Amino acid sequence: MAEKQQEGSNVEEGSSRAAGKVVCVTGASGYIASWIVKLLLDRGYTVHGTVRDTADPDKTWHLRALDGANDRLQLFNANLLEEGSFDAAIDGCECVFHAASPVFFTIKDPKVNY
Ligand SMILES: NC(=O)c1ccc[n+]([C@@H]2O[C@H](COP(=O)([O-])OP(=O)(O)OC[C@H]3O[C@@H](n4cnc5c(N)ncnc54)[C@H](OP(=O)(O)O)[C@@H]3O)[C@@H](O)[C@H]2O)c1
Repeated sequence: MAEKQQEGSNVEEGSSRAAGKVVCVTGASGYIASWIVKLLLDRGYTVHGTVRDTADPDKTWHLRALDGANDRLQLFNANLLEEGSFDAAIDGCECVFHAASPVFFTIKDPKVNY
């Protein structure tokens, strides 16, 4: 119980320190990055998330559904293969979590290869 109260007060302290701070998360739709986005929103940060296509609901619905996303999550289009495409998302941010990563699948049948 005391541990829970301590945990609660730490989150509140963190939230007040994070208020107004903007952090960028690249590849926001991905496995690692979407957890980072969630944890940042939970702590009160404003998040600039990048995806390759902000209009693709398959890539964005789980981000838009997060607590705090309506007010503090802004999604930007950015592609690692397009120079300068991350500039707008990074502009004004305290830091960047760079989790965008191209993954190339060349294995057609894992049972054959492994
Ligand atoms: N998952 C793990 O257990 C684990 C463990 C250790 C390290 N890592 C490392 O952490 C990083 C992320 O892993 P993950 O598992 O989260 O991968 P993931 O789910 O595949 O996420 C990667 C994201 O990168 C984005 N992306 C791909 N190509 C891109 C491009 N050309 N330009 C911009 N964005 C692009 C994709 O988003 P869009 O398609 O929406 O743009 C995708 O959601 C990788 O470097 C991985 O090696 C992962």
